[in-house]
Amino acid sequence: MEKLLHLNPSHTSLPDCYAFPPGKVPPATSAAVSLPFVDLSRSRDEVRRAILDAGKELGFFQVVNHGVPEQVMRDMETVCEEFFQLPAADKADVYSEDRLKPNRLFTGTIFETGGEKYWRDCLRLVCPFPVGDSAKDWPGKPQRLREVTEKFTMLTRGLGMELLRLLSEGMGLWPDYFEGDLSGGDVILHVNHYPPCPSPSSTLGQPPHCDRGLITVLLPGAVPGLEVAYNGDWIKVHPVPNAFIINFGSQLEVVTNGMLKSIEHRAVTNSGMARTSVATFIMPTEDCLVGPAKEFLSEENPPCYHTVKFGDFKRIYNVVKLGSSLNLTTELKSVQKDI
Ligand code: OGA
Ligand code: NI
Repeated sequence: MEKLLHLNPSHTSLPDCYAFPPGKVPPATSAAVSLPFVDLSRSRDEVRRAILDAGKELGFFQVVNHGVPEQVMRDMETVCEEFFQLPAADKADVYSEDRLKPNRLFTGTIFETGGEKYWRDCLRLVCPFPVGDSAKDWPGKPQRLREVTEKFTMLTRGLGMELLRLLSEGMGLWPDYFEGDLSGGDVILHVNHYPPCPSPSSTLGQPPHCDRGLITVLLPGAVPGLEVAYNGDWIKVHPVPNAFIINFGSQLEVVTNGMLKSIEHRAVTNSGMARTSVATFIMPTEDCLVGPAKEFLSEENPPCYHTVKFGDFKRIYNVVKLGSSLNLTTELKSVQKDI
């Protein structure tokens, strides 16, 4: 429990295990960019095109007029910030280093590392769909956490599913193409908390990674920190109030045989302010066999990825390779060679 960063407010210098060798944390370009915006209140035709364009261009985009009420977004931010401000004793029950525990508070990354540590604490919540009585396994404090999280997750999952329908239509598939096992696993919520860091330029909050599910809906919070790989560089994402940030997970890249790319991203820290973000991951079921779908294959387009059970994919794609290619398309394929 003492490993948790946010319970230890007196960080005056960066402990060695967090500091990367010089050059291993390439800085981002100085310009912060606004990701492309997709306004979901526009015509369905326009939205379909905008999502496909934005998805193909950068792999990341923001959605506005998405139907999740502002109040729900603010409530979620508030309960998550309140959770991290609770006294340590109120969080002792949920703290665990056991990766097999579905709901837990932990520090660092979910990926295996070469020993280096990451400046992040995380509350992981599993939200089967529908939530049913599993909310009782979530923290009981702050008092509104369960109620707000349940509402938030239903709405962000709904948004993710609607985006998948729009993508399917845009690619000429049935609207419900991604329904069923491909999106039917538990929804996972990561409440990421990055406390102020004494030396932000020598460490990271999260390593370069691709999200492993189908699609991710991120509530980024008001403090910047997300960076996205683009043309061999890292670009800073400037969060915009009331927008969600959307990115494609590795499974969407595999199913579409690379038509949609899952783009590598990372989180940086800052010395002034804590940052809290909430990622909603829509995932296949553990047993779902995911491979390039026949609709994306032809003589000119042979399969570029193996077909693997999602549970196995997660076990294989589990290691941070710092200094690896920024282009995770190659990376994903080379990881799959090990299968
Ligand atoms: C994640 C993630 C980025 C952020 O949780 O997978 O990439 O800005 N988060 O916190
Ligand atoms: Ni991520």
